Amino acid sequence: MNAKTDAIAVFDSGVGGISVLRQLRKLMPGETFLYLGDSANAPYGTRPTEEIRQLSLNVAAKLIDRGIKALVVACNTATAAAIDILRQTYPDLIVVGIEPALKPAADRFPGGTIGVLATPVTLNEEKFQQLAAHYAQKCTVIKLPAPGLSELVEHGKGDSADAEALLRPLLSPWAGKLDALVLGCTHYPFAESTIRRILGDEVPLLDGGEGTARETKRRLVQAGLLNETNGSITIENSLDDPKLLELSHKLLEG
Ligand code: DGL
Repeated sequence: MNAKTDAIAVFDSGVGGISVLRQLRKLMPGETFLYLGDSANAPYGTRPTEEIRQLSLNVAAKLIDRGIKALVVACNTATAAAIDILRQTYPDLIVVGIEPALKPAADRFPGGTIGVLATPVTLNEEKFQQLAAHYAQKCTVIKLPAPGLSELVEHGKGDSADAEALLRPLLSPWAGKLDALVLGCTHYPFAESTIRRILGDEVPLLDGGEGTARETKRRLVQAGLLNETNGSITIENSLDDPKLLELSHKLLEG
């Protein structure tokens, strides 16, 4: 296949990366996307780092076998744990990761209080520690780990009483006190209505999807690989469950 027509592969631990795929499609409608959700191994966000690295390498190997021109790691947890090893393993491939959108939040609210809702792994990994330390001079960063939330989204329950019961104790103490909330897990944009019920409509919710899409486009343009003709999206999942594919398409169009 011609590199220009090869797919851009996008992967996540499950359906969460669809929030990034939406931004990628919006910015590059002429591109061919191959999305792989690794729901058979979800969640990643509470696993040991070494396991996340191995899972990410396995998914990447499968995708690369299909002949891809870029790999988008649409998972904050996999990026935090595995982006370095992925880049070392595939030095000639465009590999783009996602990180919690702390930079845009800090730039927009200097001196402000920024909450970061993410998986325990993302918040504990060195990559995030470095990012938070970098912005600590500029704003107050509040870490808000939400184990269990991505599982609810995997079951189509991002907007549900269960999600509210999980998030209320974590978020309600911060209602009216945050200048912005960073959604540092790609599953969490699908829990936006629940988050809004607790924090209200005023607080800006920022995620890294748009920045990741811009960076992917920039890298493709730079390499002369951007395709601007017939766009298409293929969604696959490691779990053999038609309900997950149905949910993925619903989240993509929703
Ligand atoms: N979607 C993943 C992220 O962005 C995490 C979900 C999980 O725990 O598997 O961090």
